[in-house]
Amino acid sequence: MNILLLGGGGREHAFAWKIVNSQNCSQLFVAPGNAGTAAIAKNIPISPIDFPALAEFILNNNIEMLVVGPEEPLVKGIVDFFQNHPKLGSLPVIGPSEIGARLEGSKDFSKIFMQRHGIPTAAYETFTKEEIEKGLDYLKKQSLPIVLKADGLAAGKGVLICHSHEEAELNLKEMLLESKFGQASSKVVVEQFLDGIELSIFVATDGKSYKILPEAKDYKRIGEKDTGLNTGGMGAVSPVPFADEEFLAKVEDLIVKPTIKGLEEEGIFYTGFLFIGLMNIAGEPYVIEYNVRMGDPETEAVLPRIKSDFVNLLYAVGTRNLSDYHMEIHEFTSTTVVMVAGGYPGAYEKGHEIIGLDKANKGNKSIIFHAGTQLSDSGKVLTNGGRVMAVTGIGPNLDLALQNAYQTVSEICWEDLYFRKDIGQDILNLKIKSN
Ligand code: AMP
Ligand code: GLY
Repeated sequence: MNILLLGGGGREHAFAWKIVNSQNCSQLFVAPGNAGTAAIAKNIPISPIDFPALAEFILNNNIEMLVVGPEEPLVKGIVDFFQNHPKLGSLPVIGPSEIGARLEGSKDFSKIFMQRHGIPTAAYETFTKEEIEKGLDYLKKQSLPIVLKADGLAAGKGVLICHSHEEAELNLKEMLLESKFGQASSKVVVEQFLDGIELSIFVATDGKSYKILPEAKDYKRIGEKDTGLNTGGMGAVSPVPFADEEFLAKVEDLIVKPTIKGLEEEGIFYTGFLFIGLMNIAGEPYVIEYNVRMGDPETEAVLPRIKSDFVNLLYAVGTRNLSDYHMEIHEFTSTTVVMVAGGYPGAYEKGHEIIGLDKANKGNKSIIFHAGTQLSDSGKVLTNGGRVMAVTGIGPNLDLALQNAYQTVSEICWEDLYFRKDIGQDILNLKIKSN
């Protein structure tokens, strides 16, 4: 099968690596890709949101499946575009329709969806500019901390956790009246704070049936011991020791099943991945948010654990035959350490040469995924983003997986390199589930 994959981060390098390792892939193209995908597939310089240019490429290159990595093309309706295309209506596209993508694209939409289907989540109210007075009154009655969320996509920055009523009032005013997050904060969800341990669940669905992928824990803050600014993710671990069988069974019954059933009942077309951000509060799961794609860097930890054929999984999703697919998972632990450019998530430099890639990663204990990288004209690999590399270590337990990841990390360098040295440390001494 010829496949086109959209995106250019670590998540997409991990997708590309799984896809080219399947015997069911003839040729893989990645738009736009990065230096890592260039080494295993063919990068093409088309933007993932230039739908007409993608359609032309698909027609000219006999592409038989389109896999969408990031949320932006989904929220902009790429699935609907191809469904309505005169020649490409039956192309399997991995991702939800525009309305399905609203589960991520609008916090208000996702909260109403959860409410309609009795899915456990934080109590909330939504306010628009016209309702600012009502919103300020509502804030007064809430206990601290108070969570404010811009309704729309805000590049991961739209959630504010306010520790005083004054801070909450100021932020609500800035979001609604001064467009703090642009159009994304024209509506604001005010939410109860959930106090627990966070983890991420990933579901592949064809809109009727589903398969649950390995769970992961993400490390979001830039600083060690979870301090400093939020980032796209500085590391990940899979499996998650505190997600035992009992907890995962609750997640499936109380969250996954009603979500998939809700999508089907409402006629929302969804053939893709659903990433459920969860809080474990005293053993009970609550949804923090839905994302309509895989997580990054969680994907780099989760995909190596999938043992069954990945292209078959994607195709079963895209052709709505997922109930026939048998998912097999490797027992090992994988852990991802993200290497970033100094200054990230604030301003950072690009264009530094990355040294050591050719010598690193000998053996099968770690995998190097590129995120923000680019090949120079002379064939050097240069930094080209905030998150630059995601190194996944594999081992029979978390300790060994971490050792393998950090060993490879220590063999790669560039000017201004930074990474967290404490990925997995908080859960290292927790009992690993069932073994
Ligand atoms: P989101 O953009 O919805 O993923 O939120 C970013 C982060 O904010 C989440 O990963 C959580 O760590 C935190 N967060 C969001 N909503 C809540 C909540 N209701 N209670 C506690 N933490 C939250
Ligand atoms: N790692 C969190 C995300 O992909 O949104």
